[in-house]
Amino acid sequence: KAPTAGVLASDRDRGPLIVAHRGASGHAPENTLAAVEAADELDTEWVETDVQRSADGELVLMHDTTLSRTTNVEELFPDRAPWNVSDFTAAEIATLDAGSWFGAEFADEPVPTLGDYLDLLGENRQSLLLEIKAPELYPGIEAEILDELGDEGWLRGRPGDRLVVQSFNADSVRTVHELSPRVITGFLGTPSLADVPDYAEFADQINPRYGDLTAEYVAGIQDVRGAHGRPLQVYAWTINDGATAARIAALGVDGIITNFPERVREGL
Ligand code: G3P
Ligand code: CA
Repeated sequence: KAPTAGVLASDRDRGPLIVAHRGASGHAPENTLAAVEAADELDTEWVETDVQRSADGELVLMHDTTLSRTTNVEELFPDRAPWNVSDFTAAEIATLDAGSWFGAEFADEPVPTLGDYLDLLGENRQSLLLEIKAPELYPGIEAEILDELGDEGWLRGRPGDRLVVQSFNADSVRTVHELSPRVITGFLGTPSLADVPDYAEFADQINPRYGDLTAEYVAGIQDVRGAHGRPLQVYAWTINDGATAARIAALGVDGIITNFPERVREGL
């Protein structure tokens, strides 16, 4: 697959870039390698995932701050409530089944490390929208993420060609920008237009829940220049049907984050 132009490409005519949310998580268990493969099979270059940190400092991919919803942790470790990601070692997390809750055919699908995930994306020539999840629980995680991305070669090339780092935590996004100014960054949320210039000091994207959007709000964000001097972009989440995708695309968004890339593509 030939990678598309990066997120900062000026070609607005292409329509919104489609990002597979937690991988193609409508088709395979979220934030697993199977969800990356499902996105690839749907010809979706960009995938989103959530990174956190194990008790012994490994970067692992998990949406919730506990392991309960998407793994068998309560069965394997009944005495370890509340089953926080941060209380389990990487070796313990590696024993979990993160697939069976979604479907028997995904039994024993592991919780990936960031390293494993990057390797598969590299093999598939896919690109990454990486969310730093709950960074307030993991002091210093930004530097660790950037170190791993750098070691794996993900900080080379033109900014935004294959990597965006985002968070709901503005301090975390600012830290990423300060530590590694070439990285394209996104702030997850719906700030007032009056506050957008403050975010633009360290972010290139403002990525709101789609229900918060109007055409005026999208245009108001895009009127401001982001950390890299280009108009701020807007990536909307999480849109899972074609009709909504078409309606939100008409508001002028730059990206659509979805569990079902094929439905969004069809709707557009
Ligand atoms: O990328 C946007 C989206 O992932 C933010 O919400 O809860 O799915 O991480 P959440
Ligand atoms: Ca996310």
